[in-house]
Amino acid sequence: MNAFLGWIEERIPMMRVANMHALQYPAPKNMNFWYVFGFLATIVLVNQIVTGIWLTMNFVPSSEGAFASVEYIMREIDYGWIIRYMHSTGASAFFIVVYLHMFRGMIYGSYQKPRELLWVFGMFIYLALMAEAFMGYVLPWGQMSYWGAQVIVSLFGAIPVVGPDLVIWLQGDYVISGATLNRFFALHVIALPLVIVILVFLHIIALHEVGSNNPDGIAIKHKKGSLPESEKTKYEIHEYYTSKYDIADDVLPFFPHIVLKDLVAFCVFLALFTYVLFFAPEMGGKFLEHPNFEIANPLKTPEHIFPVWYFTPFYAILKAVPDKLFGVLAMFGAIAALFALPWLDRGRVKSWRYRCGLHKVNLIVFAIVFIFLGYLGGTPQENWKIIASQIATVMYFGFFVALFLYSKNEKTKPVPERIPK
Ligand code: HEM
Repeated sequence: MNAFLGWIEERIPMMRVANMHALQYPAPKNMNFWYVFGFLATIVLVNQIVTGIWLTMNFVPSSEGAFASVEYIMREIDYGWIIRYMHSTGASAFFIVVYLHMFRGMIYGSYQKPRELLWVFGMFIYLALMAEAFMGYVLPWGQMSYWGAQVIVSLFGAIPVVGPDLVIWLQGDYVISGATLNRFFALHVIALPLVIVILVFLHIIALHEVGSNNPDGIAIKHKKGSLPESEKTKYEIHEYYTSKYDIADDVLPFFPHIVLKDLVAFCVFLALFTYVLFFAPEMGGKFLEHPNFEIANPLKTPEHIFPVWYFTPFYAILKAVPDKLFGVLAMFGAIAALFALPWLDRGRVKSWRYRCGLHKVNLIVFAIVFIFLGYLGGTPQENWKIIASQIATVMYFGFFVALFLYSKNEKTKPVPERIPK
């Protein structure tokens, strides 16, 4: 067996890669629960791909057949209902874990040097995920699928000069139709998942090149030349590990230490996920909106049109601006600001544990404002909500402006040189 494995190893470095990127990966020993969401996002990604493949076996991607084929999956196919609910609940679970994963990056400064590119890859994943979720929601061809697509695609019409032609090009027709459904299906089942998987791969490569950050935001130190030549890994020679300390003091091998922590998180996640799956798959109309149980009808506009909950913060920003073009710009600007975070934050200390009080307040207010925007964008319009969403939009962008201003000469606490014992 060993000879056989050795033969394979000489031709393809399976164990070397497994050791470097998983089993022996040096993980900072102070990683806390905030560090489980990357693993959970990977699990949900696998769930989406596997259940998606099974759904595709019986889904009919046409305006005549889509709605009925989803009903058929739910009622007639053996275990079709659970596969569909795993996929629809998985979509919301994806955004919950990704939002927590991103917030972790923000509180511990994981986007700062040298992890800027890691963050940018993450943001591209987030964009691709939004496109993937939007197109997936159109597929069942219910009322919200149709009218949601109508609202989102028409936004491109606000672009000067090319807008109206762009809308027709995107739709593949003069209106949202079976042609649109068909191309969204192709993008949803193959193009975007492929892009997401490739981006996740690059995300992990970028992470392992520079090493994980940690809740104290301290660079892992390593004593030069402390390990015998034979035990040297690429991490030992990395420029971030060139100080006078021994790497072994600050890190633990990923297996079994972090794997066990991740498994605990997985059990908790599974308990919550299955609860939703079996007892509240529609989540009161938040995960699956009620109008979507009615087949798409271009002649009947639903009373209220909202996107699914994970888009509603950006939808609220869009609607806060009276002019359509500026609304679209504000919405894309809200995402662009997140992309630019590594350069907007000029601070040298990473973790909020050692940053100024204002930074902590700024981050907490940002999180509250984001959730509040989500509430405003996902509930029926009322007069007070217009002004509230305008104030919340200003506060959303205010987070980035304030960060840019105070981070330059911020008064920080002394950062320990090593990860505290
Ligand atoms: C499909 C979605 C994603 C998957 C599967 C994924 C996966 C992972 C994994 C496995 C890790 C290492 C474990 C951990 O630190 O939690 C990680 C780290 C990281 N991810 Fe993601 N990620 C995703 C999306 C994102 C997004 C949207 C962002 C931000 C824009 C992001 C930013 C980061 C950062 C900054 C780190 C390093 C954190 C640190 O070392 O402190 N990721 N990701």
